[in-house]
Amino acid sequence: MIFVFDGIDGCGKSTHAKHAFDYVVSRGYDAVLLKEPTTESPAGIALKEALESGKRPSPEEELRLFIEDRKWDVENRIIPALQKGEIVVLDRYYYSTVAYQGARGMDAEKIMEMNSFAPKPDIGFILDIDPEIAMERIKRRKNADYFEELEYLKKVREIFLSMKGLPEVVIIDSSGDKRDVEVQIKGFIDRVL
Ligand code: TYD
Repeated sequence: MIFVFDGIDGCGKSTHAKHAFDYVVSRGYDAVLLKEPTTESPAGIALKEALESGKRPSPEEELRLFIEDRKWDVENRIIPALQKGEIVVLDRYYYSTVAYQGARGMDAEKIMEMNSFAPKPDIGFILDIDPEIAMERIKRRKNADYFEELEYLKKVREIFLSMKGLPEVVIIDSSGDKRDVEVQIKGFIDRVL
């Protein structure tokens, strides 16, 4: 089983991914908590370095790197965990590639198709929040222009919200109380388990 937590930076996905992981473990399941981009594959390392330096590759090159990193993750961590019968909880997955690289002008449908090698989640939680609130929550990235980043995140959010028609996707308002969000997430997880 795969549960994914995704959304714009500052939406709280990492917190809720960790809570969901702790919850399934507390219910007696074997589970693993994974994060993308990875810090292990050559592509993942290249991406982290690019993000930290503030020098982003071209949209095409960036898309290629995220897909290559995901192929590594699927082959080396996700499939082996599923084969061991573990529940995989993911902090970001291909919804991020569709939204973030889509917002850089790449075709969202094509990006989805390019990810068809990746096992489909049982639930893809997309935590939704106003980008201005999200940006207040997180420290601004070094070298980033506030308005440029805000405009970019608005586009990313729009693409995330356009995924509401996907059968496995659940969009959750993440602007309110953290515990309310957690209760909602547990409800969905309970139903699937
Ligand atoms: P992440 O490591 O989640 O950020 P943080 O440093 O806040 O923990 O992700 C790093 C950035 O990579 C984030 O801005 C989203 C972006 N990203 C993409 O553009 N495409 C993708 O496919 C993924 C997985 C992430």
